[in-house]
Amino acid sequence: MITGASKGIGREIAIALANEGAEVAINYRASEDHADDVARIVEESGMSAWTYRADVGSYDQIKEMKEFFSKYFGGIDILVNNAGINIDKLFFKMEPEAWGKVLNVNLTGVFNCTHIFLEQLMESKNGRIINISSIVGQMGNIGQVNYAASKAGIIGMTKALAREVARNNITVNAIAPGFIETDMVAGIPDKVKEKILKNIPLNRFGQPEEVAKAVVYLASPDAAYITGHILNINGGMYL
Ligand SMILES: NC(=O)c1ccc[n+]([C@@H]2O[C@H](COP(=O)([O-])OP(=O)(O)OC[C@H]3O[C@@H](n4cnc5c(N)ncnc54)[C@H](OP(=O)(O)O)[C@@H]3O)[C@@H](O)[C@H]2O)c1
Repeated sequence: MITGASKGIGREIAIALANEGAEVAINYRASEDHADDVARIVEESGMSAWTYRADVGSYDQIKEMKEFFSKYFGGIDILVNNAGINIDKLFFKMEPEAWGKVLNVNLTGVFNCTHIFLEQLMESKNGRIINISSIVGQMGNIGQVNYAASKAGIIGMTKALAREVARNNITVNAIAPGFIETDMVAGIPDKVKEKILKNIPLNRFGQPEEVAKAVVYLASPDAAYITGHILNINGGMYL
């Protein structure tokens, strides 16, 4: 089950997990055509895919989503909390709505999905929770106080929950991507992008597929003894 899987990093995670033999539940909020496209690619690889529109920030909608998916398969083994948004503004110009919206989707969304699917992950016996945080939650960024707070919150959640659910053989890890070429980064002005590149030792932005490969690893039996870890995928920008 991957949240925000219609586009960008989530899309590549869905495709990569399906290529490794996973059936995938694709959550999205608005981009139905994109979600259908991901489902088609997954089905072409021989695996099943289901799509469902739900706002991760709504506990009720995610509960309904669980009921929907549960009709098609018993439960989930892997939860990837990927859905995220940014509403960037300098802090003194940041309206409470921009704070609330970003925290609601990026952090409460992780709470909602994890809380609602936790029972199924416990039943799985080898449950995996993989949260997509961000380098911005580790080092901060101008204009992203709300986003940084939400992504730093995910890191705390990951570590605390890892301790709680280890007894259920569920691992909880987070990935902290740097700047990855998706719609989210496409909105950054070219001049700012040039400045960012100067701070990336590997001298390029990352690709969504590079994040997806790490998710596949953390979801695999090879990563069974890794929990509470924050995996940086940032070209050396933050060490
Ligand atoms: N790109 C980067 O450089 C970067 C770096 C670090 C971390 N991240 C994190 O990686 C994750 C994916 O980012 P991305 O770059 O792939 O973004 P993206 O291309 O903008 O895609 C965002 C995805 O999240 C979905 N989404 C947004 N709000 C949602 C909601 N309320 N409920 C359910 N789904 C929702 C979108 O679906 P719809 O289009 O259907 O609304 C879309 O599928 C985010 O958590 C982001 O913060 C990204």
